[in-house]
Amino acid sequence: MKVAVIGCGTIANTAHIPSYMNNPEAEIVYFCDIIPERAQKAVAQYGCGRAVADYHEVLNDPEVQAVSVCTPNNVHAQIAIDALRAGKDVLCEKPAARTYAEALEMQKVQHETGRVLNIGVVNRFNDSVNRIKEYIDGGKLGSVHHVYASFRAHRSIPGLGGAFTTKAIAGGGALIDWGVHYLDIVMYCCGDPKVKTVTGETFCKLGCDMKGYAYVDMWAEQGSDKENGTYDVDDSVTGMIRTEGPVITLNGAWAQNIGESETYIDFMGDKGGIRLHYGSDFTLYTTENGALVEYTPKFKMRDHFQNEIDAFIDCVKTGKKLPSHIDTVIITAEMMQAIYDSAEQHHEIDLG
Ligand SMILES: NC(=O)c1ccc[n+]([C@@H]2O[C@H](COP(=O)([O-])OP(=O)(O)OC[C@H]3O[C@@H](n4cnc5c(N)ncnc54)[C@H](O)[C@@H]3O)[C@@H](O)[C@H]2O)c1
Repeated sequence: MKVAVIGCGTIANTAHIPSYMNNPEAEIVYFCDIIPERAQKAVAQYGCGRAVADYHEVLNDPEVQAVSVCTPNNVHAQIAIDALRAGKDVLCEKPAARTYAEALEMQKVQHETGRVLNIGVVNRFNDSVNRIKEYIDGGKLGSVHHVYASFRAHRSIPGLGGAFTTKAIAGGGALIDWGVHYLDIVMYCCGDPKVKTVTGETFCKLGCDMKGYAYVDMWAEQGSDKENGTYDVDDSVTGMIRTEGPVITLNGAWAQNIGESETYIDFMGDKGGIRLHYGSDFTLYTTENGALVEYTPKFKMRDHFQNEIDAFIDCVKTGKKLPSHIDTVIITAEMMQAIYDSAEQHHEIDLG
């Protein structure tokens, strides 16, 4: 299957490209980046494909069947929509788009064209997450009434002043960039329950003083511009979401004046609870014969990006609908929009 990678930055090089290279059915025929050297470097490094700077060139080639969209969030919708209209199947990185309205437009075009549109909610292909889903579906936790997600870091603002911290490009900060994964895991494991109400507050407190921001390491620092760049996104967020399933509460921070980072999700049921250590294993807490027990299952975890790309290639071939389809992911887009709207208006949003 001939595929193309549009956007040859971090996620393309660390996840999409190596996973396509490992898939015996996929052949990368284009590397596309508006920075031509990045596409050329990929051709040289991976020994395949053509380097192009304009994604329309990829879309005009009838041989290309599927594309990965690995660009910043501001062009997800445009490129994904153009690709669908050109008859290509699409795997677009998370978040689907900057706003719910953009994501809805993508979903509409997917429905019109009938092509595949999956979003890179890679945790739906994570072995720990899938085991938790099985435990919950199998009743091991009983009725799950509350899920708490904590994605907090002492100092971890990416590329201060660059694309990640500019609302016009990213759509938001800690919530849309990290929270999207956490909310998606919660929704997936709990069976994508219908959302009733959303309330949230977001804060832009630490990153906005770009020159005074103290830190040790910064990821995506190559895109940082502390002199002339922009910082107008949430560096922390809190929220509560009522669903027809559990209540979801969350605290997230790219930066906080607490010297500990927390990256976990707690699923709390009346028979048992699970703490997922994000990106790793999980611990189950329950009772047995009147005693408190806990255990951390050990198993071989496959690379979730490889699982995601393999599933994408398979679904392009078979037409099977994946759990990362825009029809599912659209709910998280709506929830995140509602948190941002609630924060702006300082009241609860009813999605009932
Ligand atoms: N699934 C995950 O866990 C995960 C992790 C990191 C990033 N991401 C997502 O991946 C996307 C890219 O992030 P990144 O960290 O790789 O960013 P990046 O800046 O490293 O790479 C993006 C690349 O896209 C290129 N680009 C921009 N506009 C383009 C266009 N119109 N046509 C072609 N190329 C274009 C840029 O020149 C750049 O090389 C973001 O949406 C981000 O949220 C997902």
